[in-house]
Amino acid sequence: MQFDSKAKIIISDNLSDDIDSILIDENISDIGLIVDSKVSNAESIKNLKTALNKKYRLRYNEIEINEPTTDMVNQYANEFRKNVPELFIGIGGGSTLDLVKAISVMSVHRGVVEDYHGTGKTFTQGIRKILIPTTSGTGAEVTKGAVLVNEKNKFKRAIGGKHITADYAVLYAELTSTMPDNVTAATGLDALAHAIESYTAKCANEITRMYSLKAFSLIFNNLPKVFEYKENLQYRKNVLLGSCLAGYAIYNSDTGACHAMSYPLGIYNHVPHGTAVATLLPKVIATNIKKGASQYATLYDVVDEVPFFRNANEKLNAFLEQIHSFKPFQYIGKTFRDYGINESNIDFLAERGLDLKSALSNNPVEFTLNDSISIYQQLMKESTLL
Ligand SMILES: [Fe+2]
Repeated sequence: MQFDSKAKIIISDNLSDDIDSILIDENISDIGLIVDSKVSNAESIKNLKTALNKKYRLRYNEIEINEPTTDMVNQYANEFRKNVPELFIGIGGGSTLDLVKAISVMSVHRGVVEDYHGTGKTFTQGIRKILIPTTSGTGAEVTKGAVLVNEKNKFKRAIGGKHITADYAVLYAELTSTMPDNVTAATGLDALAHAIESYTAKCANEITRMYSLKAFSLIFNNLPKVFEYKENLQYRKNVLLGSCLAGYAIYNSDTGACHAMSYPLGIYNHVPHGTAVATLLPKVIATNIKKGASQYATLYDVVDEVPFFRNANEKLNAFLEQIHSFKPFQYIGKTFRDYGINESNIDFLAERGLDLKSALSNNPVEFTLNDSISIYQQLMKESTLL
């Protein structure tokens, strides 16, 4: 049994002060700051930028990003290679953080990132980095991979390794208030999927399940309250911590069929990752339970304020009901049809959804092409009814 971790987690109530303390500890004078343009106007980020500018040599880049591409990595790595900073700070959603992770290794390696993307070639060094998530979703602030899309050959995979992983993950919940409701829902449900899929994963162990279970409890019991009590930051803090712990869980025990199915939806139809995962999750869980996966019963035990059942089958049914009636799904707002997916795409998407073999083989029960097709057919029927 093993559990791997690297990033030091700092739960922050004062972003500028906490970042300054890290920089002093690490003896840093030269910083590359990369910020997602969607959050760059947040007061705390503007204050951080001003504070850093006064004391350190700062190179500031504001980026507009949907999914991180190999082209973007190469473009920024070329720039930073001319004068490599001592440390990167990345602020944004999972896409921004993955981009920063990839830049931090490619700035000190020759060639292009395609040389490492799906080739098995490993990175030998990387620049230290602090990652600050502004969504509670991917767990990218602690995971060892950076998922990149090669738009030329439609190849989406993670590059990975210890040099890619952040040194510090700073959780500053106020920044997650910048998200609109549909993004809070999609990213929060992606984090929930990480907790669930890593818990039920074939390669889960006692330690990873401890992280998954706590992550599930924090996300499931707090995410609905983020919408209900918008002014109360505590619920956002709980979901952000849950998302981070779920990141540590998938770092060690990976995901499952839901994530495998989600990849082609992002590549071919540009469905945001969280939306794809959130839409698929209830159907994948139902399929897994139908085929004999029983681990979900333990997850039911940590849901707040639900009836107690002794019998495992009753717990499984009740868990599925809880998932189906989970309010955050209502905030997603869009269906696959809104992204141009219809009955004619199903076979292709279902087949391509079997490509991510690592996640698929990690699913608690065998997951087949027919399972995938059946899920798409059900989703198509439901979105017609809408
Ligand atoms: Fe995910």
